[in-house]
Amino acid sequence: MKQEAQNALQQVKRLHAEAADQTIAGLFEQDPDRFENLSAKCGDIHFDYSKNNLNADQLDGLFALADAADLAGRRAALFSGEHINVTEDRAVQHTALRDLTNANIIVDGENVQPEIAAVRQRMAAFSNGVRDGSIAGQGGPFTDIVNIGIGGSDLGPVMVAAALTPYQNGPNVHFVSNVDGADIVDVLSGLNADTTLFIVASKTFTTQETMTNAQTARDWFVERCGEAAVEAHFAALSTALEKTKAFGIRDDRAFGFWDWVGGRYSVWSAIGLSVMLAVGPDAFQEFLGGAHAVDQHFQTASARENVPLLMALIGIYHRNVCGYDTHAVLPYDQHLHRFAAYLQQLDMESNGKRITLDGEDVAGQTGPIVWGEPGTNGQHAFYQLIHQGTSIIPADFLIAANANDPIGNHHQKLVANAFAQTEALALGKSRQQVEQQLQEAGLPADKIASLAPHKAFPGNRPTSTFLYPKLTPHVLGQLIALYEHKVFVQGVIWNINSYDQWGVELGKELAGELLPMVKGEAPAEDRNGSTSGLLTAFHAMREG
Ligand code: F6P
Repeated sequence: MKQEAQNALQQVKRLHAEAADQTIAGLFEQDPDRFENLSAKCGDIHFDYSKNNLNADQLDGLFALADAADLAGRRAALFSGEHINVTEDRAVQHTALRDLTNANIIVDGENVQPEIAAVRQRMAAFSNGVRDGSIAGQGGPFTDIVNIGIGGSDLGPVMVAAALTPYQNGPNVHFVSNVDGADIVDVLSGLNADTTLFIVASKTFTTQETMTNAQTARDWFVERCGEAAVEAHFAALSTALEKTKAFGIRDDRAFGFWDWVGGRYSVWSAIGLSVMLAVGPDAFQEFLGGAHAVDQHFQTASARENVPLLMALIGIYHRNVCGYDTHAVLPYDQHLHRFAAYLQQLDMESNGKRITLDGEDVAGQTGPIVWGEPGTNGQHAFYQLIHQGTSIIPADFLIAANANDPIGNHHQKLVANAFAQTEALALGKSRQQVEQQLQEAGLPADKIASLAPHKAFPGNRPTSTFLYPKLTPHVLGQLIALYEHKVFVQGVIWNINSYDQWGVELGKELAGELLPMVKGEAPAEDRNGSTSGLLTAFHAMREG
C-alpha cells in the first residue's frame, strides 16, 4: 500500500477503534432510513450494504482511502490500455471485448475494435451453423460439445453455462479440465464420437492438463471416426494460433484472442464459444452487454453510488481493519452453483499477492480466502460456524426476485431463507430473548440456564445482498463485471499487480521434474525427504 493510502487506512482504523461498541443493530436504530441510505443501484442490481457494521464517518474514511490510492488515475490507466500488468508488460483490456459500441479501442497504438468484432462475428456464424445443423459432424448435426480447458479456459464457461441453463437451446455442453483421467473418461463415456464437437480452449496452448486431455480426446475420436474426420470435429480457442495449427486444427475452426485478455477474464472472448453454442449468439451478446453496462457504471457513477467501489471498500474494511480472513459468496440461486469456484480464481489468483508493484513486501493483508456454496444447502452445512463460530465471515448473498423456473412456492421459500439468514446474522438473538422463549415453552429454570448460552446468537455479522430481477444473461454479465472491478479496486489499494499469477509456476516446474521419477524413468535423488519417501511408497503400491 502506498504511504498516502496507509495514512488514510490508519484514519479508518482510528474510526473503527473509536466505535468499538458499534453494532449493526444499533446503526439501524440510529438511522431508520439506513436501508435507503446504504443501498446502491447498478443496472438491474440492487446492492444493499446496510447490514455491514459501518457508520458514515468510516465510509467517508474508506472513500478517502480510494482517493489516496489514486483510484481515478489507476482506473483511467486500466481503460486506456496502459500496461498495468507490469510484470508481464501487458495491457488489461477484457472490458474491450464487451464494448459493443463500435468505439475505437486503442491498445499498443492500434485500434483493436475491428479484430474483436471480426472474431465475434466468426464465432456467431460458427455457432449458428452448429446450432442449425449446417455445420455438422460425420454422423450428422452435433449433439454434444466438449470444452477442454482449465483455469480461466474452463471456470468461466462452466459457471456461465450452468448459470444460463434455462437459456440453453443448443447442443449439450460438457467440460473437461482435470488431468485426472477420471474427468475425461467420465465425459467421453456418454458420448457418440460422430456427433461430438471438441473445443480445445487454452490461451497459451501449452498447459499440461489441457494438452493431455486434448490428445486423449483426439486419440479416442480417431479410434472411432478416423484421422480424416478430425478437422470437422475439433476447434480451438487460443492466442497461439500457430500452435493450434500444429495440433491439426483448421484455420477456420481456430478462434483467437489476445495477450491483453487475462485467462480469468477471458469468458468474454473466444473462450466463451461453448457458452455461445449453448445459448446462441443473441443471448451471448446480452451477456456482454450486461458487463459493458457495469464498465460504464464503474467509470461514471459517483463514489457513493458506485457498486464495485463499495464492494471493494467494504472488503478492505473487513480484511485490513477488522482482520477477517475469508469472504463467503452465497448465491440463493441454484444455477450459480459454480459462482464461488469461478470467483476463487478471479479473486485469489488476482489478489493473492505479497509483493507490491514497487517490488516491496506488502505491509498488511491482501486478498481474502473466497469460498461459498449455494443457499440453502450451505445452511445445512457450514452456516453453524457463520452464526455461532469464533471467526467472523463477511458474506455476499445473491438472490433473484423471480425464478427462471417457477414451480409451486419454491421461490418464495428460497427468498425467505435468504432474507432470514442476513437478518439473523446482523441482529442475532440475545440470551434474554432465548431465556424468555424457553420460559414461555415451560422449561424448568435449571434447564433454561444450561441451554440458553448454546441457543444465543451474537449477531453483528456483516453481509451484503445483491437483489436482481432474474438471472438472465444480461444480469449475469453485470454480476461478473461487478466482481471483476471490485478485484481491480482492491488491487489498486493494496498496490499489487492483480493481473499476473507467478504463484502457479513453481508447482508446474516441480511437476515437470517429478514426472520422470513418478514414471520410474529417473531416480528420486536430491528431493525433499518426504517427496522421496512418497515416491518410494507410491512405487511399492503400484499394481502390475
Ligand atoms: O493456473 C494458471 C493459469 O495460467 C491460469 O491463469 C489460466 O487461466 C490457466 O492456467 C489456463 O491457461 P491456458 O488458458 O493458457 O491453458
